[in-house]
Amino acid sequence: MSKIKDPSLADKGKTQYEWAKDHMQVLTHAMTKLKKSRPLKNITLGVCLQITKETSVLLMGLQDLGAKVVCCGGNPLTTQDDIAAFLDSQGIKVLAWSNQTKPEYDWCQNMVLQHKPDILTDDGGDLNIKAHKAKLRIFGATEETTTGITRYQSLAKKGRLQYPIIAVNNARTKMLFDNQYGTGQSTIDGFLQAMNLLFASKRTVIAGYGWLGRGVAKRCQGMGAKCIVTEVDPIKALEAHMDGFEVMPMSQAAKLGDIFITCTGMRNIITKQHILSMNDGAVLGNVGHFDVEIDAKFLLSQKVRQVRPNLDECVLPNKNKVYLVSKGRVANLIASEGHPPEIMALSFSNQLYSILYILKNHKKLKNQVYPVPEEIDNQIAQDALDSEKIKLDKLSKKQIQYHTSW
Ligand SMILES: NC(=O)c1ccc[n+]([C@@H]2O[C@H](COP(=O)([O-])OP(=O)(O)OC[C@H]3O[C@@H](n4cnc5c(N)ncnc54)[C@H](O)[C@@H]3O)[C@@H](O)[C@H]2O)c1
Repeated sequence: MSKIKDPSLADKGKTQYEWAKDHMQVLTHAMTKLKKSRPLKNITLGVCLQITKETSVLLMGLQDLGAKVVCCGGNPLTTQDDIAAFLDSQGIKVLAWSNQTKPEYDWCQNMVLQHKPDILTDDGGDLNIKAHKAKLRIFGATEETTTGITRYQSLAKKGRLQYPIIAVNNARTKMLFDNQYGTGQSTIDGFLQAMNLLFASKRTVIAGYGWLGRGVAKRCQGMGAKCIVTEVDPIKALEAHMDGFEVMPMSQAAKLGDIFITCTGMRNIITKQHILSMNDGAVLGNVGHFDVEIDAKFLLSQKVRQVRPNLDECVLPNKNKVYLVSKGRVANLIASEGHPPEIMALSFSNQLYSILYILKNHKKLKNQVYPVPEEIDNQIAQDALDSEKIKLDKLSKKQIQYHTSW
């Protein structure tokens, strides 16, 4: 049985599903090609992803390929209830609703595992960690985000990974586009919806210059913001410097910024000390996976007033007001709808092919974190170009010889 907020929202969810599907051709073409052979017949998929309109396109497609799909949300707050209702109306088991408590969120994941899935698809690692504790027999899993992969690599190092996991996040057709352009656009959208203030001329501090950070910094720059980057990796810091951004430690940036966006996947990026040194009116938000980057606990223990949906005003002991977007949780998924469908078509094509790869190869694979095979990555890029009728050059025989004859 599903557990969702409101089944009557199914029609609204269907319209959203159709809108997304029309803009996810790379994925839908792949699904159409595979549909006849029903490669996922008799397979149960346990899925923990953000329940959005784009995810509904993936899940409906997987069901069409023969799978029994059981899903829960990848974050306690981000489930879109109309999409959950639509998926439920189409026979997918859904255990997800918006604004869950942590125990509710954990319960949903445990319910997914009770269906004894053969393959798991996770976003952040919470479902896989629970499957490890329950010692379930799983063929393998796929992982959507950087933080999940960091967690499994740590388990694998200690010899504690119980099944193979494909690092979908690290495919070039995922990370380069989803983490960079997807988060870049949806972060601007989330911050604009939360605060509706001007970016132009604002000093915007971006913590982390990895895939997310550079995507966010580029888009903020495009909006006319003066961007400052903080980093711990000398190469990334040098790249940010060469890309024209000011680079400095957070202790210095905290005193200068108007808007702060954390993009690191690391904890304690903006601490109480940083917050107390900020200018009156500073706006803070996070787009890293977990809500550990900004000291939201400190901020939310001050005199707090919700001034707009997803924006809390926190009055500090020094009388300065500091504003927190979506309580320090993934702002681009809570204050906005997350990545656009064209981007998710690339990420979810990687999910689809990686699920099929596990099904075919799991007996040969070790309990390790594996990359998405290069052929899959290249094929998805080619499919994306084809779908937009973009042609590229091919190496001639002479050119290939030139490279291989040294
Ligand atoms: N919100 C979304 O839609 C979304 C999408 C994809 C990934 N993510 C999550 O975002 C986070 C970052 O992902 P990514 O792919 O950019 O990872 P990444 O590894 O490419 O980048 C993280 C960067 O943060 C830097 N960093 C680490 N500690 C720091 C510190 N103390 N101060 C400043 N910089 C620091 C690292 O050096 C690195 O350059 C992860 O948690 C990931 O799971 C979120």
